[in-house]
Amino acid sequence: MQKVFITRSIPQPAIDYLNSYGYQVSVYRKDTAISNSELIKNIKNSDAVISLLTDKFDKEVLDQMKNCKVIANYAVGFNNIDVAYAKKKNIIVTNTPDVLTDSTADLAIALVLACARRIVEAEKLLMQKKFTGWAPQLLLGMELKNKTLGILGAGRIGAAVAVRAKSFGMKIIYFNRSRNNSLEAETNAKKVSIEKLLSVSDIVSIHLPLNSETFHLLNKDKLSLIKKNSILINTARGEIIDEKELIKLLKKKNIRCAGLDVFENEPNLNEEFYKLKNVVILPHIGSATEEARTNMALLAAKNVAAVLSGKKAITPV
Ligand code: GLV
Ligand code: GLV
Repeated sequence: MQKVFITRSIPQPAIDYLNSYGYQVSVYRKDTAISNSELIKNIKNSDAVISLLTDKFDKEVLDQMKNCKVIANYAVGFNNIDVAYAKKKNIIVTNTPDVLTDSTADLAIALVLACARRIVEAEKLLMQKKFTGWAPQLLLGMELKNKTLGILGAGRIGAAVAVRAKSFGMKIIYFNRSRNNSLEAETNAKKVSIEKLLSVSDIVSIHLPLNSETFHLLNKDKLSLIKKNSILINTARGEIIDEKELIKLLKKKNIRCAGLDVFENEPNLNEEFYKLKNVVILPHIGSATEEARTNMALLAAKNVAAVLSGKKAITPV
């Protein structure tokens, strides 16, 4: 009987699906990220693994996998897996694209609005019972109409954010390796250099994958190009921004507000983030909707079943 190990409890439909194939499914049931030693112990004899973005599959871990044919990552990002090394070991890696695009794009827009309209600051003021009545200058924010949104990485999620932003009357520019013709047709978006994007956008939103080319892509030099008083949104991966440099700019108010769902060293945030007023920070919930998480789980399970039954993976990376 083929063994499938799931590194943490995920929505039940995925487990039912795998059971219907007659696989021996085991789930790590503690509701915390699995430790490296527990992971190694559990994957040694597995034929397939459903992994989370918090599980690191480096060479050392991959070398322990004797029978594994597929690692189905329960995420669209797969920077937690050494994919090149997995390939050498004939392990197929899959991810969960598309099913979380709309949820993640919704959250990016939520952060845009929260930053532009100072939603969190306003709510705190009220909850601290400091609301003394309507005032002409209370918590003035920024209107979105006619503002320029710069999309860094115009893949599925970036494009979905652009479409939403267009309905607010925003102008869209994007930086991407290749041209995205359908995005241009749908939103009148223009492709520009990263330097241009950073220097003219009122809002910059990051939708790039994390890899060696995008690690600290927004370093000190690039961050210094960001137009004064603009908004920076990150729902992709924390490591794309050099956080220490971002914090300096936020302290100087060079950046109006940063809306961040992801961080360099999750779950241990740089303490400065807790002290800043011009940030909206969230605990990596981009894909956290019932719809997205159920469909991510099912897609991961379908990838496992496809590979174990000798078919092509549905969404290999
Ligand atoms: C979430 O961060 C994902 O990569 O799916
Ligand atoms: C991921 O789904 C992306 O292409 O943005």
